[in-house]
Amino acid sequence: MADQPLLTVESLYTRFKRGTDTIYAVNGVSFSVSAGEVVGVVGESGSGKSVTMMSLLGLVRGRATVDVKRATFKKWELPRLTPRQLEDIRGREIGVIFQDPMTSLNPVMRVGDQVMEAMLAHQYATPRAAFNRTLDLLREVGIPDAVQRFRNYPHEFSGGMRQRIMIAMAIACEPDLLIADEPTTALDVTVQMQILALLQELRERRHMSIVIITHDFGVATNFCDRILVMYAGRIVESAAVAEFVAQPAHPYTIGLRSSILEIGSRGRPLSPIPGLPPTVTEPPKNCSFAPRCPYAIDRCREELPELRVLSPGHEVACHRAEEVISLAG
Ligand SMILES: Nc1ncnc2c1ncn2[C@@H]1O[C@H](COP(=O)(O)OP(=O)(O)OP(=O)(O)O)[C@@H](O)[C@H]1O
Ligand code: SF4
Ligand SMILES: [Mg+2]
Repeated sequence: MADQPLLTVESLYTRFKRGTDTIYAVNGVSFSVSAGEVVGVVGESGSGKSVTMMSLLGLVRGRATVDVKRATFKKWELPRLTPRQLEDIRGREIGVIFQDPMTSLNPVMRVGDQVMEAMLAHQYATPRAAFNRTLDLLREVGIPDAVQRFRNYPHEFSGGMRQRIMIAMAIACEPDLLIADEPTTALDVTVQMQILALLQELRERRHMSIVIITHDFGVATNFCDRILVMYAGRIVESAAVAEFVAQPAHPYTIGLRSSILEIGSRGRPLSPIPGLPPTVTEPPKNCSFAPRCPYAIDRCREELPELRVLSPGHEVACHRAEEVISLAG
């Protein structure tokens, strides 16, 4: 179960220059991850899930500006680290499974060498020890015939097996935190469940914290201890899973939950929340969800709802959360 905070982030802002526009991708995000905790970050495409985590790791691409008041991981203040120090922490202390598999796997390098490389780059093990450990890791993530498979190239594996190799690389140096960006999205449902079961098992065996980024609310509720819901670059709700399922308080989360419940009832079509998420081209001054919100009032269009404590461990950024709960209930 959750105990000590491992990662603490306060007031993270990331914006990009795109042509003459500025994209306000992350707008004042604060959260923490405790040791051994599994935190899900959910939200629609473009809500800022990947940019939030990649900003902390120094991995945002393009013309980006990152501002953060505080980002502490274990003993390190991440914004104070040099690119070299950050690179060393990434991979050794924080394992990352990237959303784009091509970022992680080199198509022209044998997979065994790639897993070994993950250890050698951080001087984590001698070549001999790294070789033996690679075989152990391939077995640990469920790849049969590890000795033979060591020599294969990524294209010789199925999508699920490639995902297992990426997990092996990410955990090779025994990180305390694993960031998994959409680790199951491209996989079919059965393989998706197998990968989640593997992550669950690794988490228990290694007492590793995991941040799993997903647009799938069902994956998050089944797998995580706590969920952060993002909308237009902000966290709009944060709570333990049980609280989310029992009493979601933000109209956006309520909409996400309803669409999950409907998938569960056979034959009925999924009814997503009507409307589209905005591309944020100016700093948010009001509730970005207002154009899609059935509970919106004038105040919502005039005043930014701050993330506030609704009950212990449950935070929400909605002016009307208390009324919404009773109206939606
Ligand atoms: N390198 C970049 N340059 C310009 N804009 C970017 C860049 N990376 C991300 N963005 C923009 O930042 C916003 C947040 O993107 P992000 O990738 O974090 O979304 P996401 O929630 O991870 O979505 P998805 O579910 O599609 O992965 C989007 O509007 C995106 O277009
Ligand atoms: S602040 Fe207003 S518009 Fe935004 S989610 Fe709450 S009720 Fe809806
Ligand atoms: Mg993403």
